Amino acid sequence: MSSQATMSRDERSGYYMSLLGADYVHSHFGDATPLSIQQLTQNRYRRNPTTMVDHILDVIDLSGTERLLDVGCGNGFILRDVASRMRAGGSITAIDIAPGMLEAAKENVNFQWAPIEWIVGDARELGSLVDGVFDVVMANYIFHYIPDPLPLCKAFRAVTAASGKTIVTVEGLDSMHEMYQVHLDALRAVGASESLIDGLPHGRRGSLSTHNGAQLLRSAFGSVTEYPYTDALVFDNVAAFMEFYAAGHRYCGALPLLEGRVEADFFDRLAKEVSERVGRIISNDGVFLLQKENTVFACWPEDTK
Ligand SMILES: C[S@@+](CC[C@H](N)C(=O)[O-])C[C@H]1O[C@@H](n2cnc3c(N)ncnc32)[C@H](O)[C@@H]1O
Repeated sequence: MSSQATMSRDERSGYYMSLLGADYVHSHFGDATPLSIQQLTQNRYRRNPTTMVDHILDVIDLSGTERLLDVGCGNGFILRDVASRMRAGGSITAIDIAPGMLEAAKENVNFQWAPIEWIVGDARELGSLVDGVFDVVMANYIFHYIPDPLPLCKAFRAVTAASGKTIVTVEGLDSMHEMYQVHLDALRAVGASESLIDGLPHGRRGSLSTHNGAQLLRSAFGSVTEYPYTDALVFDNVAAFMEFYAAGHRYCGALPLLEGRVEADFFDRLAKEVSERVGRIISNDGVFLLQKENTVFACWPEDTK
């Protein structure tokens, strides 16, 4: 039996972080392509009529004149829509640890009316990267890469104005479990050993996620409200799923972990196997469906209740 089967959700999530290592973030975000494939596929194949970005914007409820901080801004996919709603008086500071992502964000987010300061830096050193406090602090999908979440929650609180709020978006650990199931079944079908499979992620990771986020954030903030966003990606063609799986998610994280450790044709065989399995599901059911579970936490410094 896989040792992962006996782990709690938190242990499993921590285990994936240890597998992927501190350098993972640089390898995964050295190039903006995988993230943009994930984002564009999400928008194109979603079932929820509201985009995730619009859901986040509803929660932020901008007046447009805020001082806003985006931590882990990535390629600016969300920041772009946020910035488009700013007006005179508003300003943005955007931080990311990966210089390539920040360069992509600079190209994607360039509105004349919203001054933006770009900072390459580690969110865990937030206090030394920014001055003063912000009306809105936004951190979308960064806790996948933070092994110890509580200090970062406290750092967000420290840079949030007394009348401001912090917005944290996360993906649930069980999100897209259908993709991981097909991936694991296909790994076994192409002959991967159980010990090799045990050293790979079997699902999403995140030290702060949908199941524990409210509790962790309440340790730092006076009041936390959760705004869930449930969605499904509905694939009616194999090619779109394969782009999402192989190029977007790099074979559920197996590619960076196994490169150089498996035969040259391993990922070609895996791709063929996954593609055939998903093809059969689409032939039988009409679609291949991935359940998505996300939540936006809105956090206020004081207890507003
Ligand atoms: C999944 S992406 C999300 C990007 C963007 N927030 C979005 O939702 O579209 C995570 C981003 O967090 C950045 N990141 C990861 N760890 C970080 C850290 N310790 N400090 C700053 N940025 C970090 C990565 O480089 C990446 O751009």
